[in-house]
Amino acid sequence: MSSNKDKIDKERLPVHIAIIMDGNGRWAKEKGEARVFGHKNGVESVRAVTEAAAGLGVKYLTLYAFSTENWGRPAEEVDALMDLLVDAIEKETPTLQKNNIRLLTIGDINRLPEKTRKKLLDCTEQTAGNTGLSLVLALSYSSRWEIRNATQKIAADVKEGKINPGDITDELISSYMTTRSIPDPDLLIRTSGEIRISNFLLWQIAYCELYFTHTHWPDFREEEFFNAILSFQSRDRRFGK
Ligand code: IPE
Ligand code: IPE
Ligand code: MG
Repeated sequence: MSSNKDKIDKERLPVHIAIIMDGNGRWAKEKGEARVFGHKNGVESVRAVTEAAAGLGVKYLTLYAFSTENWGRPAEEVDALMDLLVDAIEKETPTLQKNNIRLLTIGDINRLPEKTRKKLLDCTEQTAGNTGLSLVLALSYSSRWEIRNATQKIAADVKEGKINPGDITDELISSYMTTRSIPDPDLLIRTSGEIRISNFLLWQIAYCELYFTHTHWPDFREEEFFNAILSFQSRDRRFGK
């Protein structure tokens, strides 16, 4: 079977692709299963898309895995998601190593259960030297949390005389974000038919190309990912010029 992968221009890849992985619960419901079944199958999509991104030579892939607002879900679902995360990291660390993938996290990691946080930190440390794809997991992340934090730190540094108000440039603000070492996304994908941003990377997506698909996340695999990149490559990015 021919793949749209061959139509992708490798010279014009998005450097950073961000994904709002949505629709696990509805996917499971349509199959008469519990929401957790959707999350489990969603992990397979994470694996498929990560490998596809690494294979193409994409440099950064950020996945919105758990938002600040998601803490408001039933404890049972939150616990299942945290356990799933521990399992997935444990199982996937060797694959990350083999594919030269570096794991990074953004978000309020201190809110995560001890066991989850520890696994994440271990994997981050173990893969720190990898130079291929950077896989960025957004966990307990929301943009307003991030912007509030950055603003508090900037205000504190002004008060201590480390910086002057006049020094506050776009670049300085970016350097106070949890994404400080990561370029802004070029392409943002959201699955499952919702046309909203849900508190994700608001500062960073100022000029990002947006791509929405009705496919639920557990059904979003390589071909869908290639289609999103092809859509990106058909756009004329003008940046206001
Ligand atoms: C996305 O799927 C995964 C997370 C937000 C953790 P949902 O759990 O939001 O599934 P829907 O949107 O309810 O179908
Ligand atoms: C956004 O999905 C958060 C993640 C994908 C982690 P949600 O399902 O939580 O967002 P809303 O509630 O539909 O806006
Ligand atoms: Mg959802």
